[in-house]
Amino acid sequence: MTQFNDTELTAAVIKSFEETPNPRAKFLLQELVKSLHDYVRKTDLTFEEWDYAIDFLTRTGQKCTDIRQEFILLSDVLGVSMLVDAVNHRDRDGATETTVLGPFYVGEHKVTPHGTDVSANLAGERMFVQSRVTDLKGRPLAGVPVDIWHADDAGFYDSQKANFATEGASSRARFITDADGRFYFRTILPCSYPIPTDGPVGQMITQTNRHPMRPAHVHFLVNAKGHEPLITHVFIEGDKYIDSDVVFGVKDELIAKVERRSDPVMPDGKPADGPWHLMTYEFHVKPGGGLAPAPLGTKVPEHA
Ligand code: BEZ
Ligand code: FE
Repeated sequence: MTQFNDTELTAAVIKSFEETPNPRAKFLLQELVKSLHDYVRKTDLTFEEWDYAIDFLTRTGQKCTDIRQEFILLSDVLGVSMLVDAVNHRDRDGATETTVLGPFYVGEHKVTPHGTDVSANLAGERMFVQSRVTDLKGRPLAGVPVDIWHADDAGFYDSQKANFATEGASSRARFITDADGRFYFRTILPCSYPIPTDGPVGQMITQTNRHPMRPAHVHFLVNAKGHEPLITHVFIEGDKYIDSDVVFGVKDELIAKVERRSDPVMPDGKPADGPWHLMTYEFHVKPGGGLAPAPLGTKVPEHA
């Protein structure tokens, strides 16, 4: 057949993928065609709207660099990242809940001694984070690399700053759990912050009268051997945006009460320089495998 009505066209495009050698790729492509065609039919998409969409996606691609991923941001604000997370983590079996990776995981986290102030060069209210990694039976896991990263008290990640290449990391580190599965560090209390609004995705958020804010949080990537890599955040209870995260990433279990303290020493016995905050949170990981995310700018292996 050379001429198709709109439903015949969908069937013809689906059939055109029939000989795809990889069965999963074939399934994904055929389902994508079905969903895209349904969307066009349901909305009676006009040529102007189609052109706009192509231009939007082009600008999204053009905004990407080695350390900025505008497509991840698009997936995040459309709730796709959290949906992929949900369908892949249906049974937690007591393991800590997961959430989005976000665009500010840049890899190359430096192994850092416990207790280090990872934000020593930054202004802000001081915070001590104490944590532990266990398996599902509560047994401590030693020697586990845990990457942490968070925004400063003005809402920016180190990688968003012009001097990142010369100054290096701040509020970003890797700890290795001790024999009790523990790790701990000093930092500053992060604040809620807007996703980048200087690109097409942020513009879409403001033009649609959504707010661009994420509630304050610290990111954790716990990568224990023989266990599923855990990508998550711990959110700070009481944040104004806890119920309206622009990327839909909050889960109740991930909200921590961060205590205000005025003790003269922090939990590692070293002096505090005035009032401070204490975040306490334990991570439980599930047996399994899987790859931890590749840092931005590194090549993902091609599928055979
Ligand atoms: C983040 O938490 O770093 C983040 C996640 C999704 C979109 C933007 C930022
Ligand atoms: Fe973040």
